[in-house]
Amino acid sequence: MSDVFPERALPAGPITLRPFTAGDVEDTRTACTDEVIQRWIPLPRPYSAEAAVDWCTKTAHTRRESGDGIHFVIGDAADGRLLGAIGLRRTDWDDLVTEVRYWVAPWARGRGIAARATRALGQWLLIEQGFERLELRAAVGNIPARKTAVKAGLHREGILRNAGRLHGGRVDVVLYALTRSDP
Ligand SMILES: CC(C)(COP(=O)(O)OP(=O)(O)OC[C@H]1O[C@@H](n2cnc3c(N)ncnc32)[C@H](O)[C@@H]1OP(=O)(O)O)[C@@H](O)C(=O)NCCC(=O)NCCS
Repeated sequence: MSDVFPERALPAGPITLRPFTAGDVEDTRTACTDEVIQRWIPLPRPYSAEAAVDWCTKTAHTRRESGDGIHFVIGDAADGRLLGAIGLRRTDWDDLVTEVRYWVAPWARGRGIAARATRALGQWLLIEQGFERLELRAAVGNIPARKTAVKAGLHREGILRNAGRLHGGRVDVVLYALTRSDP
């Protein structure tokens, strides 16, 4: 098994998962300063223009090259505009387990885009990449993220006490997972 995910685009109906480019800097910065995203993901705060440039042109790519995971823009299939982001991280190449995390920009919420992206990424991971398990950790209070996990076909497995870190402090998280033997 390779220890780096191949760079590629994944089409999924009205959206396409694709690599970050310099053209995504402005939308990434706007989205990552959104208070809902800042509440549930401990991104740099304030989220500077430099942070957006660094993420889109460098860090999103070096994280893949390091073997940690892979990071995609959730793009509009029609015009390519950034609607959100989804990524894999903390990949365990021995056990073939990895963790998904996502956000959807304020201008694209309410259409179930994160669930669609998670399903597409999960299929690619478990079928094409031969992984055994995809995990998602959502803060207990993050209802939209938890509903998204279930809608994407992940199963709730339990509560991990004090396992999450947000800007607001430590939180319990709900663990969801999709395994290769799930229907
Ligand atoms: C989680 C997130 C990605 C979902 O975005 P989305 O794909 O546009 O999801 P939707 O807005 O379509 O909502 C998903 C579900 O949550 C529900 N929901 C949305 N806002 C809600 C709220 N404030 N309270 C309760 N339910 C809510 C929706 O009704 C929908 O459920 P349904 O399918 O049963 O109708 C988005 O809210 C987000 O970016 N949040 C901040 C970042 C984050 O929390 N990431 C996850 C870290 S694990």
